[in-house]
Amino acid sequence: MHGANLGTLLRTCDAVGACLAVPPFRWVDDAVARGNTLRRPGCVHRVGSPLRWLAAERAAGSRILGVELADEAIRLGDLTAAGGRTIVVLGHEASGIPPEALDALDAAVEIPMVGGGLSLNVAVAGSLVLYKLAGLL
Ligand SMILES: C[S@@+](CC[C@H](N)C(=O)[O-])C[C@H]1O[C@@H](n2cnc3c(N)ncnc32)[C@H](O)[C@@H]1O
Repeated sequence: MHGANLGTLLRTCDAVGACLAVPPFRWVDDAVARGNTLRRPGCVHRVGSPLRWLAAERAAGSRILGVELADEAIRLGDLTAAGGRTIVVLGHEASGIPPEALDALDAAVEIPMVGGGLSLNVAVAGSLVLYKLAGLL
């Protein structure tokens, strides 16, 4: 949702040495192109079934980290840099991470907020977490 989010996230992925994994919807390529100012191709994985891919990644030893406001979530300040392969799961701008994907997470991380807003923009939230995981902050 909201135009430039996927392209913005691809730029952050490029900056921290990550790849962007996207679902197989027809609108995704256009959405990734918007907001993307990279002058070379970014690293984009097209994932057939996101849930099956997450399960396979988890079985292969990847850490699956959701970015979501949740009771049991780790606070961003306590998140340590990734020691191994980590998959960061972001939610839909309107509905968040769907319940079936929450079941696939090893942990969730939340970004504390003190203002009146209920949540951050997804590209902002994802970028903050990616920088912390990359150890660049
Ligand atoms: C606009 S929010 C979704 C709000 C939605 N109403 C909900 O029920 O979750 C879009 C996504 O950005 C991320 N996000 C936004 N603010 C966050 C925060 N403070 N901490 C962690 N994740 C956040 C989450 O991945 C969330 O699913």
